[in-house]
Amino acid sequence: MSETAAPHASDIQAGARANIGVVGLAVMGSNLARNLASREGNTVAIFNRSHEKTEHLVATHPEAGFAPSTSYAEFAASLQRPRTAIIMVKAGAPTDAVIDSLVAVFEPGDIIVDGGNALFTDTIRRERAVRATGINFVGAGISGGEEGALLGPSIMPGGSDESWVTLGPILRSIAAVAEGEPCVTHVGHDGSGHFVKMIHNGIEYADMQLISEAYDLIRHGTGKTPAQIADIFSEWNRGELESYLIEITAEVLRQIDARTGAPLIDVILDEAGSKGTGVWTVQNALALGVPVSGIAEAVFARSLSSHPEQRLVSGNLPGPQQTLTVPDEAAFIEDVRLALYASKIVAYSQGFDAIRAGAMEYNWTIDLGAIAKIWRGGCIIRAQFLNRIADAYAAEPDMPVLLTAPYFVEAFGRAQAGWRRVASAAAGSGIPAPAFSSSLSYYDGLRADHLPAALVQGQRDFFGAHTYRRRDMAGTFHTLWSGDRSEIEADDTH
Ligand code: 6PG
Repeated sequence: MSETAAPHASDIQAGARANIGVVGLAVMGSNLARNLASREGNTVAIFNRSHEKTEHLVATHPEAGFAPSTSYAEFAASLQRPRTAIIMVKAGAPTDAVIDSLVAVFEPGDIIVDGGNALFTDTIRRERAVRATGINFVGAGISGGEEGALLGPSIMPGGSDESWVTLGPILRSIAAVAEGEPCVTHVGHDGSGHFVKMIHNGIEYADMQLISEAYDLIRHGTGKTPAQIADIFSEWNRGELESYLIEITAEVLRQIDARTGAPLIDVILDEAGSKGTGVWTVQNALALGVPVSGIAEAVFARSLSSHPEQRLVSGNLPGPQQTLTVPDEAAFIEDVRLALYASKIVAYSQGFDAIRAGAMEYNWTIDLGAIAKIWRGGCIIRAQFLNRIADAYAAEPDMPVLLTAPYFVEAFGRAQAGWRRVASAAAGSGIPAPAFSSSLSYYDGLRADHLPAALVQGQRDFFGAHTYRRRDMAGTFHTLWSGDRSEIEADDTH
């Protein structure tokens, strides 16, 4: 039977016993459905285009008490009103197809949630289109991978206030818990949830790049084995760098390849993939005028690594004579730890800047402190350090830049000398450390009381009469470069 050819759901007398539904039962969807079913008060309706997956999930998890369906109409009929369904299928056309099928069988007041990694502008479009039918559409970022979906993710829903009334308690029942609070909040309206998830992923890229640069520098500088470096990361994970990514890095570095007996890290091909969310972050931050240097360098580093044809012919490009020599290993390793921590603060600060700029651009009201709080658990960037960001925004919600929060100023006071030594050592010995170095330049750019942007303005005025302002008086000016080089007041329409 065609999933949408059946009569409208409200004509079907099937018992509506489920309070939440999941469409799309690949690993993430199945795990989310199991998580929902494991929580008191939830009965979960499930549907998958190929029914085998539905049957498999019911058969392997009878304890879940799922309400399976073989059509969208049956699925809708199994849901109590306001019907609420979470879509867990691939972003793009597959998601659009499921939305269309649900709109055909849902009614005004019902709620459709897209739990995939959709581009937030797609979500804004979809929310507007679905809202016209009276049905609520919610784009919800769900972070934490397959394990998070099962045990407790961090959830970033957008959507209407009306949808949150029903959705809030359900999502709070399955979210991770950090410091006694569920890692979910109503981020804001329409596409805000997927926007924040996008920024989460951008920060994730930066975090992963920074950790990888730290590993690379220690390996080059000390000759330690991956297992020995894993011990260093495990030690770091007991301090201010405590985080999921540091924790799993130690596990990856300890892993031995069964085929060769070598450290797995030495067998993995050094060409990084990307599903694209980091690229979206940089594209949108650029459009919003927000420097996200650490995130951008992380994206560029993945791209560079994935051009073997260029790397192959570049191996003999001139490089430094000296290799990285480290007279005091312990001191060098501490410098790398400090550089990692300082660069991480920059990456998160830039990410939160992008969220604030996005909220202004798209007319969302986003509580940055609440975002920091829901990232403390469940998500890929979960870290003890997010408590400090939450504290900073609680103390000063409108601070212009996170870096100037007292806690981070103190951290930079401890870290900046080591950070500079590491960036210098990397440059001097020809070891690429783009995220460390760009983060340091961003930091120094913010600190500088005179930037060479003045010369850029002069150049722009010279060739394009684009005008400039002066430090010592108000107004807009232009120099008659091709004339007597006198300065005139100019309008700023250039
Ligand atoms: C998460 C992750 C996840 C992401 C994968 C792949 O929050 O659970 O960020 O959503 O899609 O990690 O990301 P890349 O392929 O872009 O590295």
